[in-house]
Amino acid sequence: MKRKLFSFLLGSSLVFALAACGGGDDNAGEAPASDNGGGEATVNAEEIFQQNCASCHGKDLSGGAGPDLTKVGSKYSQDEIAGIIENGQGAMPGGIIKGEEKDAVAAWLAEKK
Ligand code: HEC
Repeated sequence: MKRKLFSFLLGSSLVFALAACGGGDDNAGEAPASDNGGGEATVNAEEIFQQNCASCHGKDLSGGAGPDLTKVGSKYSQDEIAGIIENGQGAMPGGIIKGEEKDAVAAWLAEKK
């Protein structure tokens, strides 16, 4: 505890001293862009599904208020699924997710066969 406080004080006075005499400390908040391990996708389809669709279709896609989607890829193509997400179908509202997220989820669901 004491040690932490000490290094905090030391650290901040160092920063202060550097800032005071250094002048151009313009890279203070510039963390390197973190990329998490080289996956191509920045959107996580499954996470998006859990947040936006699982309430009706179930966490494991087995259905609930909405139909079972575990085999939806054998019924619809990716484009058709994207269309359903975009426009809705029956009791399902359209436009819940859009753009990149919609495409990612449609591609992910199209593989469920
Ligand atoms: C408010 C509840 C609800 C939410 C939220 C919801 N759905 Fe649906 N979904 C339904 C219902 C109900 C149907 C059946 C519509 C019909 O054909 O009458 C359906 C149908 C579908 C179908 C077609 C299934 C088939 O076999 O015809 C797909 C694909 C689908 N939903 C994907 C999604 C995706 C992806 C999301 C999240 C972006 C989502 N749904 C969010 C209620 C919902």
